[in-house]
Amino acid sequence: MIQFKKTQCLFVLVLLVVFMSCKKDKNIVIVEQNDKIKLGKKLFFDKGLSNPIGQSCSSCHSPETGFSDLNHNIVSEGAVDGLFGNRNAPNVSYAMFSMPLHFDYVDSTYVGGFFHDGRVNSLQEQATKPFFNPLEMNIENVSMLINKLRSSNYFSLYREVYGDITDEDKALKNIADAIAAYEQSSEVNPFTSKFDYYLKGQAVFTAKELRGMKVFTDTAKGKCANCHIIDADEETGKVLFTDFTYDNIGLPKNVNNPYYTMSSNYNPLGASYIDNGLGAFLNNSSFNGQFKVPSLRNVAISAPYFHNGVFNTLEETVHFYNKRDSLFPNPEVPANINKTELGKLKLSSQEEKDLVAFLKTLTDGYQ
Ligand code: HEC
Ligand code: HEC
Repeated sequence: MIQFKKTQCLFVLVLLVVFMSCKKDKNIVIVEQNDKIKLGKKLFFDKGLSNPIGQSCSSCHSPETGFSDLNHNIVSEGAVDGLFGNRNAPNVSYAMFSMPLHFDYVDSTYVGGFFHDGRVNSLQEQATKPFFNPLEMNIENVSMLINKLRSSNYFSLYREVYGDITDEDKALKNIADAIAAYEQSSEVNPFTSKFDYYLKGQAVFTAKELRGMKVFTDTAKGKCANCHIIDADEETGKVLFTDFTYDNIGLPKNVNNPYYTMSSNYNPLGASYIDNGLGAFLNNSSFNGQFKVPSLRNVAISAPYFHNGVFNTLEETVHFYNKRDSLFPNPEVPANINKTELGKLKLSSQEEKDLVAFLKTLTDGYQ
């Protein structure tokens, strides 16, 4: 009898230990994930990680503008004064939902990738690039970046998450991993727009917003949802307002882009430079002028618009979709233009206004 009780006791004890250690493990995992996001956020906002210091990822991707350029520049200035890249800084919020670039044979189009031309395949790969771009954060080499990390006030947090640095290339991968974790956090992808609350039945659209949504989805009107998908994504259950495909929508050249005035070291072609987008990356002219369809979430707070920042307002942007073929200057890249879904939509000026009202419901932080 006594013998039995002892085993029973031991059994319960073992169970308890197993249970506690499982629980502990789980806790550790969660804390690690939180710490990784915390570290990623520190890195994303650290203005010490540029050369000279003064520029962070958030300088061009600020939370106040949907994680795009806080100052609404056509193209953002790099850490070195007077140096500009060729393209408008996109919203980093909701960028995480893109998939690696691939050709979809059913729809006969490229899909996915990061940057306007899809040239990298993951947030992790992307996050290593701006540090070393002379037109952006201008860090000379990996050692320089790691030294900056070592002397930061959050280096202890880095060590808690990834341990001591024994290999600098591995440390660079860890930095990118942490930044990507932050970019995938709910802070960067909150889904808190009026549209989201409307879907949940917690907000009511005005008559104008409702009409705008109808124009947006109507395949005989705005046709916007053909590319800026309004149905929930099958995999994530989220409405992303993009299918991550590529199109040449026939934008005019933005003559005010400061990139045209950059020295020949950075822009050998000067004012005659043409941005062929996906076609240039693939080195295949059949895709010239095509750029990735962006999400429209937070679009009302992230002007100017398109890869070359050519329009400053949503009104102009919608007007362009409606009247491209009759009122707007010649396209920068005349090949491969989408003529079936946009360019002459025959929308009334009221319908244009309604569309803009709808686009304004996509801004996060709705109260
Ligand atoms: C000087 C401005 C600038 C800085 C600094 C900068 N970016 Fe960007 N970012 C851009 C521009 C411009 C693009 C688009 C470039 C292109 O498509 O060729 C871009 C694109 C991106 C994208 C792709 C989004 C998408 O939808 O495909 C991500 C993600 C991103 N940046 C994250 C970062 C991170 C992380 C940092 C810091 C390590 C950073 N950026 C620093 C200007 C900047
Ligand atoms: C055939 C696909 C397609 C259709 C249809 C379409 N778009 Fe787009 N949209 C794109 C592409 C591609 C881009 C990016 C083009 C670029 O930067 O060169 C874009 C970009 C935008 C942008 C700029 C976003 C930013 O952050 O800069 C807005 C705003 C926009 N679209 C609104 C609309 C509206 C409103 C409609 C309907 C009237 C519409 N789109 C229909 C493909 C489409």
